[in-house]
Amino acid sequence: MPSMSANNFSRNSYHNHPNQTKGDFFARKQKIEQQRKSLPIAAVERRLVEEVRNNDTLIIVGETGSGKTTQIPQYLFKGGFCRDGGIIGITQPRRVAAITVAKRVSEECGVPLGQKVGYAIRFEDVTSGLTKIKYMTDGLLLREALLDPYLSKYSVIIVDEAHERTIHTDVLLGLLKNVQKARSKCISEAVNTDHNNSNNGHASDGRIDNQNNGILKPCQAKKYNPLKLIIMSASLDARVFSEYFGGARAVHVQGRQFPVDIFYTHKPETDCIDAALITIFQIHLEEGPGDILVFLTGQEEIESVERLIHERLRQLPECNRKLLTFPIYSSLPSEKQMKVFMPSPAGYRKVILATNIAETSVTIPGIKYVVDPGLVKARTYDPKMGVDSLIIVTTSKAQALQRSGRAGREGPGKCYRLYQESFFEKLTDSTLPEIKRCDLSNVVLQLKALGIDDVINFDFIEKPDRTAIVNSLWSLYLLGAVTEENKLSDVGYQMAKLPLDPVYSKALIVASQFGCLKEMLICVAMLSVESIFYAPREKLEESRNALKSFASPDGDHLTLVNVYRAADEFFQKNNMVNSKEKAEKSLRKWCKDNYINSRSLKHARDIHSQILRNVEQMGLRVTSCEDDMLLFCRCLAAAFFLKAAVKQPDGAYRVTLSGLIVQIHPSSVLFRAKPECIIFNELVHTNHSYVRNVSRIDYLWLVELAPHLYALQG
Ligand code: CDP
Ligand code: MG
Repeated sequence: MPSMSANNFSRNSYHNHPNQTKGDFFARKQKIEQQRKSLPIAAVERRLVEEVRNNDTLIIVGETGSGKTTQIPQYLFKGGFCRDGGIIGITQPRRVAAITVAKRVSEECGVPLGQKVGYAIRFEDVTSGLTKIKYMTDGLLLREALLDPYLSKYSVIIVDEAHERTIHTDVLLGLLKNVQKARSKCISEAVNTDHNNSNNGHASDGRIDNQNNGILKPCQAKKYNPLKLIIMSASLDARVFSEYFGGARAVHVQGRQFPVDIFYTHKPETDCIDAALITIFQIHLEEGPGDILVFLTGQEEIESVERLIHERLRQLPECNRKLLTFPIYSSLPSEKQMKVFMPSPAGYRKVILATNIAETSVTIPGIKYVVDPGLVKARTYDPKMGVDSLIIVTTSKAQALQRSGRAGREGPGKCYRLYQESFFEKLTDSTLPEIKRCDLSNVVLQLKALGIDDVINFDFIEKPDRTAIVNSLWSLYLLGAVTEENKLSDVGYQMAKLPLDPVYSKALIVASQFGCLKEMLICVAMLSVESIFYAPREKLEESRNALKSFASPDGDHLTLVNVYRAADEFFQKNNMVNSKEKAEKSLRKWCKDNYINSRSLKHARDIHSQILRNVEQMGLRVTSCEDDMLLFCRCLAAAFFLKAAVKQPDGAYRVTLSGLIVQIHPSSVLFRAKPECIIFNELVHTNHSYVRNVSRIDYLWLVELAPHLYALQG
């Protein structure tokens, strides 16, 4: 008998939970009101609103959980900051935070999500004409600036979690500084002169007139109100933001922090999953009530820890099995994400398995114990090799402190660091801003599309390395996005409009010329989601066999297309005779039978429909190459020539541009075939350098299709 899964259980028990039944709506409302009033920030509501009124730029620093993200937008709405018709925008580095917080705030306001309170993330917009408080990712606001350089619909923009210093946050800060200046200038000029420059700083095709390196021109004054800018951060050091905004005022919101006991291991841990499991069960069996928060590095690790917890629970006596697991990570469907916020039923303990999303972005109530292996998945970039990869690194001291702080929000807590105390001393103080360790091509392309041609001299809060900028300009040039004069080309402008990485945008444009855009849209959608294939350790053989029925001898790209098409065909057939819900349910079953991750597939289907709309709007030709696989493979070579590799006598591969020696990842359908020449999309470093999402090509195609790069190499 399989044990009761957490999901089954939660459905039944929450149904009986006093605050969840339909009839008890008012009790829930009252409880929320009471929770809101008891937040540390509630005591300073009036003062905060005054500060915003008196300062165009304000920095608000406050401990995680004090109520910044959920409350401040509501205070400002109440304080009349939307009266001029503008709205309040709040940016988050993470999608999950944007979604969960928007849901919470709409509930606090007692309105359906998408009306007064909404959210927008890439590929998903849950806002309407009624939306006044809009949560979104920082990347999304950057994209909005492409269409509306003055961000005219916002009266207030709050850059939340600024301490995270994501690449998008950093670029956004620079951009917002410009927008704010331009908008206040509009107003002062409107007072002094009655000018009517109807150009708005825009060329007639919607591009920004960029004679001024992106400095926005004074605009049609009557249209714009001043922009209030609020930078919110959980790190106590506000100096860097204050200095960047010309000595902007910073205020501190007092948090509530109880003491947290920190425990370290005596010896270094070699298997961190095992160490985490032992610690979870030790807490569960020996410590008093209180939920456990475990920091893990990503979806795969979370799923395997969850599985192992259930396995071990089955071996415990019935009375010790009252432990429920709740994962939270970015690609988790949002109804599941919300479950972590529900209180555990009486007698049960929750274990929340989270990525570093739970470090500062979302505050989960009820946590008393934190398990911190001290690791985080981070983007790194090797400018010499031109390689951008996600690798697991140790956290900084600041991150470790944030993590332990999560245990002391509601009372004294305990934090178990799965490393030695001496190791903590060796951690860096804080994390390097992402802009210093990332491939910048996407950012450079976006900035250029915003009219900022001289990216090297852009007023960044912290300047990225010059080589990293030069390298991105070089790869954008090779992709045809910038000209020899370093200007954005027409293709580059088209690429910037697509919500994708430049190489993927370029692939769509190339595919429309090759006549295989239908296939490439599927391919790009599938490449944009995490792990389509589900290969549990105990069923590795079965999952490999299932994959064989979709495998293409040409490589992983066509294999992904095959999976998508098989799933779509199955869905359409079912949808003809059944309701959409039923067809979706059968599709989930089909996925399970075929060892395909149904959530990732659903995400890919959503992305597909969105980018299909995008390319149709751009007027690209959406045709299929039908059975002409050769044509599609040639198109892959024409699109992904920046990442090609050639087989070496020993069976390893040499990346053509960087000279890096890599292996084909065992998950690839070409792992054994080892063709002479390949293109790939992803490079991962573990004990070896592996390439993933690999397809077979002919080296001569590179010479023919990317002569600007390959003609020279012979
Ligand atoms: O932004 P900050 O870390 O200062 O706090 P917040 O995210 O506004 O959270 C304030 C409170 O709202 C916390 O005590 C959370 O427990 C609660 N909250 C919740 O119950 N459900 C959510 N989806 C989000 C927040
Ligand atoms: Mg927050």
